Amino acid sequence: MQALPGFRDFLPSDCAARNYIFAKWREVARRYGFVEWEGPVLEPTELYKKKSGDEIVGQLFNFTDKGQREVALRPELTPSLARVVAAHEREFKKPLKWFSIGQFFRYEKQQRGRLREHFQLNCDIVGETALAADIELVSLCIDIVRAFGFTERDFVVRISDREFWTDFLRSQEIASERWDEILQTIDKLGREPREKTSEKLGQLAEPVLRILSKGGKSEKLDRLVDGLRACGLANFVDVDVRIVRGLAYYTGIVFEVFDRAGKFRAIAGGGRYDNLIEQLSDGSASQPALGFAMGDVVLGELIGETATAGEAMEKATAVEQKINIYIVIAKEERRADALGQIQQLRDRGYRVDYPLTPGKVARQFQTAEDLGASIALLYGDEWPQVKVKTLATREETLVANEELLAHLQAHLSL
Ligand code: HAM
Repeated sequence: MQALPGFRDFLPSDCAARNYIFAKWREVARRYGFVEWEGPVLEPTELYKKKSGDEIVGQLFNFTDKGQREVALRPELTPSLARVVAAHEREFKKPLKWFSIGQFFRYEKQQRGRLREHFQLNCDIVGETALAADIELVSLCIDIVRAFGFTERDFVVRISDREFWTDFLRSQEIASERWDEILQTIDKLGREPREKTSEKLGQLAEPVLRILSKGGKSEKLDRLVDGLRACGLANFVDVDVRIVRGLAYYTGIVFEVFDRAGKFRAIAGGGRYDNLIEQLSDGSASQPALGFAMGDVVLGELIGETATAGEAMEKATAVEQKINIYIVIAKEERRADALGQIQQLRDRGYRVDYPLTPGKVARQFQTAEDLGASIALLYGDEWPQVKVKTLATREETLVANEELLAHLQAHLSL
């Protein structure tokens, strides 16, 4: 029996890598004053049908539950956030700065960088229309990627503005009912053959392609870049109006993060969705909002292929999987004494392991090495003294059992 296509088993080293990513996500989000929240993994299918757009609805893992409810495993967090904020709107001072780390499910064609489950960090700001919030959000997104050791040579945030396109469509007198479909076509530009795009855009093909070849800009995008320049982060962004985002609810500034070499799919994406909370609450609540999500899959691939980032992760994950102390029980009569000491060491926070069954001393030392212990404590003929062996240097000293804790505190830095 194998895992389903697009689903991963996480062996201990994979879990260590995942924890490393989660820890950095959490640390940087907190640095920006974001607080953690979480929503349910199963939601009414209707939540996504309302406003996420056709692409994501086509990828839903959905079914009818035993109570005859139409439900879906969450493909993204934003509709849940909108629902929760609408329900608790008055309980919190605005702007809200919330982040969340969780697993998401999309029935996508499995390919490099895209699976059927993935983890995302979501960071959202609710209740602020000022461009300062967009600057704050993009800065956070940049700093999270930087925290993994990446520089402006490794990645770029491509920023754009949906209003740039909706202004253009208005100027072309295109009915607003067609805007979504046209924006989706522009979103797929790089991934679809030119002829197909031109056919879909019809008479708009020529002006759209002209804008794209010239490169569009706007006063709002200039101000956004100026704000990022003030933070010293302008080198991490490019204005690129080809970015419109696949999700239907965005209303303003949108952005996606890519590796500079353009080898991978998007690392993160987000933008402003000022109408979603109102639309999902049928008008009972109304809050401007903006946010982004970063996935673990592409980020993990990029870390693996970048020397400095990869080494930093390897170092951290190796430490996470190691123990500090291994207890060698050379004489079974000493097992009870050893157990007493093990309990005290663990109470003090040391990571300690020992043989559950009797075994040869040489084999026990080998296990100590395999588990990455820095110190082995030998309980045997030396009792009531214990042999303390530093595994890296092979140095040995004898310490009285009751002085062991003080000795380790002085000599073993964790
Ligand atoms: P999204 O662009 O659909 O945005 O996803 C965000 C990120 O999640 C992507 O850039 C990618 O790294 C990762 N991702 C998405 N689908 C997959 C997949 N099938 N396999 C692996 N990784 C994947 C959203 O989900 C929006 N809700 C983000 C947002 C938050 N907007 C506002 N607030």
